[in-house]
Parts: sequence; structure tokens; C-alpha cells
Amino acid sequence: MTAHLIFDEPDDRNRLDSMAQDVIGRPIDRSEGALKVSGRAVYAAEQATSLWSEQRTDCLFGILVRATVARGRVTSLDTADALAVSGVREVLQDPRLVRHPAQGMARKSPPQEVADVGCFGQPIALVVADSFEAAREAARLVRVDYETAAAELDPASAPSDLPEKKQSSQGDLDAAMRDASVSLDVTYRTPSMAAAAMEPHAALAWWEGDRVTLCGAYQMVSQNAEELADALGIAPEKVRVLSPYIGGGFGSKLGIAPEAVAAAVAAERLGRPVMVPLTRQQEFEIAHRRSETEQRVRLALDADGLLTGIGHEARVSNQPGETFSEPVQQATHYTYRGEHRSIRHEVARVNLTCAGSVRAPGEAVGVTVLELAMDELAEKAGIDPVELRLRNIPECDPESGKPFSSHMLAEALREGADRFGWTSRRQRGRQRKGEWLIGCGMAAAVRVNFLHKARVRVTLSGEGVTIESSMTDIGTGTYTILTQIAAEMLGIPPERVTTRLGDTDLPEGSGSGGSIGAASNGSATYLACEEIRRQLASRLGCAEEDLTLKDGRATCGNRSHDLAELVSEPLVAEGFFEPGKAMGRVRSSTWGAHFAEVAVNEVTGEVRVRSMLGVFAAGRILNEKTARSQCIGGMTFGLGMALMEEMVHDGRHGHVVSRDLANYHIPTNADVPRIEVHFLHERDAYGGTLQAKGIGELGICGAGAAVLNAIHDACGVRVRELPATPDKILAGLCGMQG
Ligand code: MOS
Repeated sequence: MTAHLIFDEPDDRNRLDSMAQDVIGRPIDRSEGALKVSGRAVYAAEQATSLWSEQRTDCLFGILVRATVARGRVTSLDTADALAVSGVREVLQDPRLVRHPAQGMARKSPPQEVADVGCFGQPIALVVADSFEAAREAARLVRVDYETAAAELDPASAPSDLPEKKQSSQGDLDAAMRDASVSLDVTYRTPSMAAAAMEPHAALAWWEGDRVTLCGAYQMVSQNAEELADALGIAPEKVRVLSPYIGGGFGSKLGIAPEAVAAAVAAERLGRPVMVPLTRQQEFEIAHRRSETEQRVRLALDADGLLTGIGHEARVSNQPGETFSEPVQQATHYTYRGEHRSIRHEVARVNLTCAGSVRAPGEAVGVTVLELAMDELAEKAGIDPVELRLRNIPECDPESGKPFSSHMLAEALREGADRFGWTSRRQRGRQRKGEWLIGCGMAAAVRVNFLHKARVRVTLSGEGVTIESSMTDIGTGTYTILTQIAAEMLGIPPERVTTRLGDTDLPEGSGSGGSIGAASNGSATYLACEEIRRQLASRLGCAEEDLTLKDGRATCGNRSHDLAELVSEPLVAEGFFEPGKAMGRVRSSTWGAHFAEVAVNEVTGEVRVRSMLGVFAAGRILNEKTARSQCIGGMTFGLGMALMEEMVHDGRHGHVVSRDLANYHIPTNADVPRIEVHFLHERDAYGGTLQAKGIGELGICGAGAAVLNAIHDACGVRVRELPATPDKILAGLCGMQG
């Protein structure tokens, strides 16, 4: 039985609130937590080696050979030295191998023909050996001849295009700037960034007849199966993808990637399972990067401190032919008022690592820069930064005129300012402790909210509940929240719920990406459970709404039954949630506010973040603990963006210079202060049947701006080229800033 809902009308029934089990929203521990901390949750690369792996262990290892030119054609491979390494089986060149990962939700193969080189580090062949070590050694020994071509390596000067759908303007911004009582015209730059997930990509493939099974680390396995099938030229039914545990994705595992296709091709050819892991260095060269951005923000303010104009021009980059471009201005369309608006979006075509989605594509860097500019404007206008934002919250989407599904920015700003002690800290002014200058800053957090179609199967039996979907848990808490939803709806303690995810043989979930997971798959889980409740109610002869399910008992009027007695035969239902017309009528977004206190060392230019506070609203919070973890993670990303993260591309050859975690700096425990996260109570009727919205990406949006604004407050230095490393701070302190 399928309970299918096309989400055409908002749902303000808030049904979860009337259930009796009282587990929804609770900060319960992750259901797979014990497996993870005891090593029993087997990750992709461990499939061949873990004691707990149920997969085949007689596997060969493959390592991708990397191109050492930025653009050209492979004319010949000399494999003699590679093949001479003990244990090496083959050096494989196959037209089906792919050059870089598929973009999120592509459902088709990324570009093939690896002999055609589009960037330094691109895979061009695969070495297969009996061991990882032999394959890695041999991959270095493959000699490659190229016919090279001139490469575009500088995003600032490379040829560019203007995707039509990403340009917009209304009114006359130039006139608004001229007439403004205070105006700002400022340009910021953010560098290429890496997702740098803890778990590197890996894929193990084996064939049974004409069907291939791929165990890997992927965020959207149902889409990924189609992408792999397209790359291999076989039917999607002939592909099974398994990704039960994933050590972080942040967008880097949205699409099928070169290691997956290589593993499948090699396994077919050699008749053995083949595991292809990416090395940490290859993570930086092959996984999608976040594009660098150059962003010009223009703001026009009238005498009352109201914005009359907003301009946001961005130049980003990607390889020629790629349709993805970092959607920098996504939230600029609706965050602040102003009738004169202009958005220009330019994409430079470069021969650098392919750009794609990295956590909160767009807002992560776009809101951050807009919020940096707002701080500059507040200073120039002599208006408190919180007050400036409060004054400029629009009544409805200022471009489309659509109402907001919910609007919580003002509340987040006020609640945050209150909890942080904003007003008294600002009044106290800059503090000094020895060499350290202490200041505080803030920023708004805004992120678009999406829903996606999703299917989830729920089975209620005497033993408990089973939930099944191809949805994934990339570390976000999906196992736990789906468990909680079913536990709440069916009146079963969470310990008696088993959730199975990340297998394309199961009903098609949405996959993890764009923060769609919880609301979309949660809505499908809800629908399946509601159907089971209807069936139980009809067995008891009452209406579904009058049925109380709690602790394994069903109560209806003055009758009470043990659930196990009612389900001598298991009850099975599939929930199928599809976004319909509802979302098209509104602007749906999540909201928040960031506050940070930093100390800047006036001798060394070092910055220490002393505290961060985030206040967030994302509809119903399904689990306070997993949601909080997401926000802490996002805010930590923001700290990294502000102070340290930078992928450096060599200007002469285009290779990634900072291609390991020693050179690509991400925040470590010692860098991260106490981070406080507070959620605002909210139910969004446009958030599916749970009144919930995505939270995975909200925490990063604007977080870096709060840190950088605090640096300015502490020492007067504005760093407009991220990250704010000590050299730039020192130059600013010495008045030598460019
Ligand atoms: Mo996300 S960057 O869509 O995983």
C-alpha cells in the first residue's frame, strides 16, 4: 500500500505534536552511534579489510593515474615500469572512465574520454594491483606523453559567460546609489575551497552476471546508480549502489565520481572485485572544489537607514561546458528590502579542478560577503549592525512579491543579541588584554529551503518497526530522525525501530544534498506511518485521529490493546512524498543569526575566536542533538572560511598546491571555541508533513562574516580577501593594506 502525497497545500495540522510517544525533537543519541565508535559501521574503503565487512574480501586495488598537464590530450602511456612493480595486474585505459564527478542530481554520466585532459590531476588511467601499496607505487611510474594545449588558469582573466537565468535587475540601481544618503561599493574575494570530508572517496565494485554492485561513499545513491549505469552503458536496474555509512560529504559525494566508474570497469575486466580509493591528495584534485569568487556588493541607504538599492555581482569559475556555477546570490534576492536591485553572475571558464556543490553552495560565500558588506555599511552610516538588519527585513520577497513561508530573521537577531549581550558589549567597546585586542561581530544566516520527492517503506510487526529507503546518512543523523518519526507516529520506543538506508534496492529516497533530507524523507516516513495508523484504526473500528499509540499499546476510546496482538501479520506501507504546488507559492528559507567574539594579537596578527553563538530557525527541529551538531559543524566551517581555508592553484601549471590537510588548513579542536547553538520554536506549514526545514547547511551561511566583523571591531582591520591569515591582519594593522 502506497500513501502518496503531492504537496500542493501547506500542512498546518502539526500532527506530530499530538502524538503520545514524546520522542520527536528529543536530543536522543544517534541510533548507529555505538556501531561507529566501536568500528562496526563499515565505511567504503574498509569493505576489503574490516573484520565486520559482509562484503567480498578477495579484492584487487586500483589507483587512478593523474594528469600532469592542465590541458591537452594523452598521446601515449608507457606502462613498462608500472607493470614491473610486483603485484601489478594491469594499467587500464578505457573510454568509459570519467574525468571528474557528476554534479548533484545529474542522473547521467559526467564527461568521459579521460585522454582528453581538462585540468591538472584529472584521472587518465587506472593501475590495478594486488595491494593498495603496489597500485599506488605503480601509478607514479606510468609515463605519459601529451599533446598539450594552452590552458586557462587564471579565473580573473579567463574567458567568461553570463548564464541567462542567473542575471536579474529591477529599478535603477545606479540612480539609487547616486541618490543614497549613505552608499557602499565594495569588492570581496573568496578562494577555492575543499569539502575536505573526513572520509576520502572509495568504491568497491563486483559483478554477478551482468549486474554490478558498488559499495561506495555517495550521498544520493539512487541518482548515483543512474549515473554509473549511464557511464557504463547499461540499464539502471543492472546497478546496485550501497552507501550505508558515509564519513561526511558536504557535496563532494553528491555525484558518481571517477573511482566508482573505474572500479566497475576494472572489476568487469579482471573478473574480481576491485576497490578504488582516492588518496587524500586526490580528494583535493578530483573531488569538486567550491569555486573562488569575486563579489562586488553595492548598497544604497536612505536617510532613515532603509536600503533602497542592492547590487551583487559575482565572478566564479568552472570548467568549460559545466552547467553548475556557485550560486552566490541565491539569498541576496530576498534577504533585504530595496526596490532597485541588480544581480550579475559571470562564470569564467578555466582548466582547474571541476567546481561543484560544497556545503550550502551559494550562501556559504554569498551570504558571508553580503553580511560583511552590511557591517561596512552599518559602520559608515553609524547604525548598529543588528539594527540595520532589523530595519531592512522585507515584508515579502522583494523580487517575486511572494510571501515568505515563515520569517524568523528578526526573532533570531533579537534572541541572539540578547543571549550574546550584544548591546552592552558594543557599548563597552574594544577591550585589550596584553597583546590581544578583543572585539565582537555579528551576521545574519539565511539559506534557501528545498523539498524533494522521496519514498520510504515502513513495516510494523510484533517485534517492532523497520524503516527502509535508499536515503543516506552522511553523518547528519538521518538514521536517528527517521527512527524518531516512526517511533512517535507508531508509539514504539526508538530502541525497537530498525532503520536501513543507503541501498538502491530499497524504495527511492531523496538522497542527501541541499539540506533536503530530513523534511523530504521524514515526510515520506510520516505518510507511511499515517497509513499504518489508519489500518490499525480500522482494525479497532475507530478513526485514525482517535487512535493513541504509546509504548507498544493502541488505545481507542475505552479499549486498549497490545500492538503485537494487532499485527500477527506485519503491516507494510510505503510513503511517497512529492513536492507539489505549495512551495511555488512562497519563498521558503531558513533563518538565523551569528555572533562571535575574537581576540587579535597586535604583534603577530593571529586571530583566536573566543566564542560563537548561533540562533537558528528551521521549522520543527526533529532531534535537538543531531541538529545542534549540524550547526556546530557549519559554524566551524565558517570559522575555517574566515581564517584559514584556501585551495591554492599554481598559476603556472594549474595544479593544486595545498592538496593535503597539512597545507589546506581546517579548524582543529584547538582553533574552535565554545560554540553555543539555540533553536527558535517554529512550525512551517510549507515544510512538508512535519513542518520542518533543512538545517544541515544553515550554520555555515554567514558564520565567517561574524568572525571577520569581530576582527574589524577588535582591531579596525577589514580583510576583503579571505581567509584573514596573520599576514593580512598585520598588513592592516601597519596601515599597509592593499
Ligand atoms: Mo550539499 S553541498 O548539496 O551536499
